[in-house]
Amino acid sequence: MGCQMNVYDSEQMFRILLPLGYQETSHLSKADLIIVNTCSIRDKAEQKAYSFLGRLVHYKRKKSGLIIAVGGCVAQQKKHHLLERMPHVDLVFGTHTLHRLPEWIRNIEQKNRSHGVDVEMSDQIHEIQRCGIPFDPTHQKISAYVTIMRGCDNYCSYCIVPYVRGSEVSREPSYIIEEIRQLVSNGVREVTLLGQNVNSYGKKQGLCSFSELLALVNQIDGLCRIRFATSHPKDFSDDVIQAFRNNEKLCSHLHLPVQSGSNHVLSMMNRKYTREDYLKKIETLKQYCPDIACTTDIIVGFPGETVSDFKETLDLIQTVQFDGLFAFMYSDRPLAKSSSLNHKLSEEEKNDRLKELLEIQSHNTIKKNLDEVGKTVEILVEGKSKKNHIRENCEIVEWTGRSSSNKIVNFVKSSADHNIIGQQVNVMIQKACAHSLWGEVV
Ligand code: 5AD
Ligand code: SF4
Repeated sequence: MGCQMNVYDSEQMFRILLPLGYQETSHLSKADLIIVNTCSIRDKAEQKAYSFLGRLVHYKRKKSGLIIAVGGCVAQQKKHHLLERMPHVDLVFGTHTLHRLPEWIRNIEQKNRSHGVDVEMSDQIHEIQRCGIPFDPTHQKISAYVTIMRGCDNYCSYCIVPYVRGSEVSREPSYIIEEIRQLVSNGVREVTLLGQNVNSYGKKQGLCSFSELLALVNQIDGLCRIRFATSHPKDFSDDVIQAFRNNEKLCSHLHLPVQSGSNHVLSMMNRKYTREDYLKKIETLKQYCPDIACTTDIIVGFPGETVSDFKETLDLIQTVQFDGLFAFMYSDRPLAKSSSLNHKLSEEEKNDRLKELLEIQSHNTIKKNLDEVGKTVEILVEGKSKKNHIRENCEIVEWTGRSSSNKIVNFVKSSADHNIIGQQVNVMIQKACAHSLWGEVV
């Protein structure tokens, strides 16, 4: 559950447990071990974790040997309180201790011991996490996440991440390059470099800069595409803007969370940039890369956000014309500074603002998608499209992939071309939908 870093961590857990004889199943009722990798970024995500964990009581009753483990940010935050609340859980482990998972699972298996808890908060990233866990060749993928750093030192006032993921630590470039080489030799064509604030990569430990890392990754033979997430506007620097021009594998998309268009709110959020700084960076980027797609994150209803603050956010959205955005209603997080602020908005007010903002953005997204019609774009083919069952047993197959600008593109091609997954195909866009594009191979 949760962000891309959670997905990466879940894959690491899967790979580290393979030697114990575990295999993946998509049926909960067949599982002997269920690991819930939780997210606590917003209250809704945390509640989702509890509700899912609650449902697992049923499976535990049916199968007494079933092991239930809880990792991720809720585990790190709640520690042993989670076991008190969820007695059917066998293990709670922290965000920095994935490498010890096999040992704990073995213990529980062998001693049939329940109620272990380990929640360590350490800046020491274990060797396995620094080097990555050996790739499982049976798990074929075209696109993979690669964590380049963990933790965050920014302490945005609404955010729980620095408290549950610890302070910022970057991985050595050589480990990152080696991990990507391994992925590429197993068929991966696209990597997304992950960190809470990739633009400050390497600074604290005196490693290379993020733009230098991008140049190194760009040289890896067999890799077609590079993406990264997430950037912080205060650290998004000119050398990264140049990197979009200098590295042909770097995709034409930037996700730059702005959070609010009001300087008053940005200052309350401790974001350390102004609306003007943000707009200037986007303007410079677009001067260098006119076709680049930009997306963002917005929080609506931060404590004390007035109607005029909110209007400034709407105004910023119209000025930038984002290709897409993620918008969230503000929620209090334990330990985060903003929880103690006055002038909280009601759920209804937050909901109304969210709706208004999403309505505006949906028009902008459609406009951006329509701009693509008539263009020929290169698609990295990820697989058959979900709609494909309609065409099952026909000679024509509907495929899906993404453009460099991260737009989902569906297109049809003869089923004789069953090996096009992982290939780059030129597609002429013919139709724009709300969330995807449709085209024909040229
Ligand atoms: N309330 C609402 N949204 C939040 N985010 C982070 N913390 C909160 C919170 N307390 C959003 C931000 C961030 C995204 C990952 O989640 O927009 O960029
Ligand atoms: Fe949270 Fe701010 Fe760090 Fe992002 S940069 S993880 S919003 S504290």
